[in-house]
Amino acid sequence: MSLAIEAKNIVRSFGTGELHVTVLKGIDLKIEQGEFVGLMGKSGAGKSTLMYQLSLLDRPTDGTVELFGKATAGLNHVERTRFRLEHLGYIFQDYALVPELTAYENVALPLMMLGWDENRIQKAVCETLDKLGLPEKWNSVPSKLSGGQQQRVSIARAVAKNPEILFADEPTANLDNASSKDVIEALQQLHEEGQTIVMVTHEHDYTKYCNRVLWMDDGLITKEIEPFSGEIQ
Ligand SMILES: Nc1ncnc2c1ncn2[C@@H]1O[C@H](COP(=O)(O)OP(=O)(O)OP(=O)(O)O)[C@@H](O)[C@H]1O
Ligand SMILES: [Mg+2]
Repeated sequence: MSLAIEAKNIVRSFGTGELHVTVLKGIDLKIEQGEFVGLMGKSGAGKSTLMYQLSLLDRPTDGTVELFGKATAGLNHVERTRFRLEHLGYIFQDYALVPELTAYENVALPLMMLGWDENRIQKAVCETLDKLGLPEKWNSVPSKLSGGQQQRVSIARAVAKNPEILFADEPTANLDNASSKDVIEALQQLHEEGQTIVMVTHEHDYTKYCNRVLWMDDGLITKEIEPFSGEIQ
C-alpha cells in the first residue's frame, strides 16, 4: 500500500491579536491509497478546515501535506490550482454546479480545462453520467434536477477525470434520506473501483462503507470510531 495523504503537524490559525484563533492544533494523519475515510465531529470542530488543508484549498499555518508522496508546500498558487485540477476531486454540500450549463456541460468543464480532446471528453462524460445513474439527464440544467440528481452530477464532475483523491464535505447535508443513501452508495461504488475518498459527515449511518472513521474535537483528531454497521435509514 502506498500513501495517498500524509499530513504532519497541521496547524491552522486565523486572525491576529485578540481575534487570533487556532482552529487546527497540530494534526498528524496518514491515509492509504484506496481508503474511504470518514471524518466526524461536532460543528466547529475543524472538519472542513482540515479537509481544506488536505485538499490544497487552503494552506496550513504550520505543518506539511504530502499527496501521493509529493510535497505540496512549495507549490505556488498557479501550480496548486493545476495540481487540484489534475489530481483532486471535490464534492460540496451545495453541489456548486454552474446553473446555466447542462449536466453534460458541467461534467465536461474540468476536462476541457485539462485540455482533453473532444472524443475523450465525450466518452468520459457519458460513461460517468451513466455510472451515476443519470443517463437521461445529460441535457438538463441543474434547476430541472432534484437535489440528489444535482449531487450525482457534481460527483460525476469530480470523478470524470479519475482523480487520485475525492474529497466530500457533507455531500448529503441538503438531501432527504433516500437521495442521501443514493449518494453514499455512489461513493461506495467508486470506492470499490479503487477511489480514495475522504468524506466529512454528521450522520454516523453514512460511514457504513468507510474503512476508518476519525473523530475530531476542538481542532484535533481525538479518536477513531467504528463505521456504522446497520442498514442505512
Ligand atoms: N476563515 C476563518 N476565520 C476565522 N475562523 C474560522 C475561519 N474558518 C473557520 N473558522 C473557525 O474554525 C472553527 C472550525 O470551523 P470548521 O468550518 O472547520 O468546522 P466544521 O467542523 O467543519 O463545522 P461544521 O460541522 O459546522 O461544518 C469554527 O469555530 C470556525 O468559526
Ligand atoms: Mg464543515
